[in-house]
Amino acid sequence: MSARRAATGGDPPGYPRELIHTILVDWGATLRIRPIRPDDEAGLRELFERLSTRTVFQRFFRAWRKLPEEWYPRFVQVDYEQRLALVAEVDGAEGARLLGVARYEPTDTDGVAEVALVVEDSWQGQGLGRRLLEAIVDAADKRGIHRFRADTLSDNRRILKLLAQTVNIESSTTEQGVTELTFVPRPRGA
Ligand SMILES: CC(C)(COP(=O)(O)OP(=O)(O)OC[C@H]1O[C@@H](n2cnc3c(N)ncnc32)[C@H](O)[C@@H]1OP(=O)(O)O)[C@@H](O)C(=O)NCCC(=O)NCCS
Repeated sequence: MSARRAATGGDPPGYPRELIHTILVDWGATLRIRPIRPDDEAGLRELFERLSTRTVFQRFFRAWRKLPEEWYPRFVQVDYEQRLALVAEVDGAEGARLLGVARYEPTDTDGVAEVALVVEDSWQGQGLGRRLLEAIVDAADKRGIHRFRADTLSDNRRILKLLAQTVNIESSTTEQGVTELTFVPRPRGA
């Protein structure tokens, strides 16, 4: 979606425009973070097709060469309350390109949402993951969801460090190479 389109409407029902914001990543590029839309399906497919096997494995715990087609409609259709995804995008000559996604989904435990995120390989390590994590946790918090879970591979030092720096971790359990963390937002200014 272009910046112009972001500003001109055609929004799906309940689209929370207040979550649209621009960010600067570490080396100075300006990106936009915004709620996902049903018409992001093609952009999301392109993003996932650009991911390295390692990144796919770290996100989905399996080296999918292609994600199952039926996942995409579910990824892009959210209710913006109990299920929400935020995308990061950059404008280019050929239009906007998705660079990363953060989402939360309900879990079996009341009041606890599962958070997952991914950033395109060439954009990793530049602060984008941190901004996406902060934005998704903040959006959830504003929707009355204050406790979270994330499942990560136990050797995924980057996400473990990112979570440790960004949120308050309440518990961490590891089984068969997968670490399950529960966490709450860090109070502002802490
Ligand atoms: C995890 C992920 C989303 C983080 O996004 P990112 O844009 O790379 O994260 P950031 O640039 O904000 O960096 C986060 C922190 O990790 C640190 N970091 C970067 N590379 C690292 C590495 N190889 N090992 C350990 N820490 C690393 C950064 O230094 C940063 O810490 P800092 O704030 O002290 O500098 C991204 O790397 C990714 O998509 N990984 C694959 C999918 C995945 O692992 N998802 C998580 C499971 S749900």
